Amino acid sequence: MGKIRVVKLNTEGKKEFIREFKDAPKRRMDDYDFYGVYDGDKIIGGIVINIKPDHFHFKGLGLLPKVIVEFLFVLKEYRNQGIGKKLFDIASKYDSVGLRTGGMTTDTAKNMYTKAGFKVVREKGLVKYWYRGK
Ligand SMILES: CC(C)(COP(=O)(O)OP(=O)(O)OC[C@H]1O[C@@H](n2cnc3c(N)ncnc32)[C@H](O)[C@@H]1OP(=O)(O)O)[C@@H](O)C(=O)NCCC(=O)NCCS
Repeated sequence: MGKIRVVKLNTEGKKEFIREFKDAPKRRMDDYDFYGVYDGDKIIGGIVINIKPDHFHFKGLGLLPKVIVEFLFVLKEYRNQGIGKKLFDIASKYDSVGLRTGGMTTDTAKNMYTKAGFKVVREKGLVKYWYRGK
């Protein structure tokens, strides 16, 4: 394993990220900040933060998170080394944050959100909406 770097991505970098991680948001890319994690030249994870969210799932609850975390992922062989937490801290800096978890979300992720003060504000089957803020 080489040196791990977290890089804020430009448009080219965002396109590469989307090619690598098929579940990452693909539209309105200017409304999203992408951070990629690299081991040398290889992208091994990242976070996508919607900085101009339309609040669709939160508005009905009277919540207007400043940002919404849309995607957070670290390749299996790189997990449990603090990389996910480091990425999540980028989003945690905002006053109010929303996110959504589903059936594929790892317990590590859910534990991390709970520890960071996030609460489940809405549940729909396996899908949960989380919020932390004022
Ligand atoms: C969520 C995810 C990105 C976390 O990545 P990671 O690099 O393994 O996370 P970290 O190593 O930073 O660990 C995060 C926290 O979990 C804890 N943790 C990590 N591995 C653990 C383990 N085996 N047992 C107990 N706690 C553990 C860490 O201690 C850390 O908490 P702390 O900062 O309070 O110490 C990763 O699990 C993933 O890609 N999951 C699949 C996609 C997913 O679920 N994304 C979220 C969608 S909403």
